[in-house]
Amino acid sequence: MGLSLDGIGSKRSVEWIEKFLHDPENVYGAQTLDHGMAPKEAAYVSRIPAENLHLIAVFLSELRADPGSSVAKRPPEGRSEFIDSMIGTWAPDSWKEKYQDIREK
Ligand code: HEM
Repeated sequence: MGLSLDGIGSKRSVEWIEKFLHDPENVYGAQTLDHGMAPKEAAYVSRIPAENLHLIAVFLSELRADPGSSVAKRPPEGRSEFIDSMIGTWAPDSWKEKYQDIREK
């Protein structure tokens, strides 16, 4: 029902995850879909005892993504012919002015 949490440990810190589980809307700084106050479907999550939320956050933070997988924050190291060809085919020219290729950072 929610986001895929596979690889979340490569995107979010354990502190972030724990804070989110307690107080989702403040952490997102926006309205959430399912986490938050009742009657939202995942409202029960913030009522789970703090000790258990801590353990869940530690567990989730250990779910690291393989570099280059669809849930990884960064692409694989080095040049990839595949990524170059996808960018060449799908990225409109205007994106090249608007966005920076994070592989060149
Ligand atoms: C113990 C149970 C659950 C845990 C530990 C959990 C954990 C999380 C975490 C850590 C995120 C943040 C992901 C991110 O932004 O990187 C998230 C987001 C989300 N989860 Fe869950 N979740 C639980 C139950 C549920 C349930 C039951 C639903 C739906 C019925 C749900 C729906 C969502 C949605 C839609 C989001 C995006 C934020 C929002 O709009 O609410 N989750 N969840």
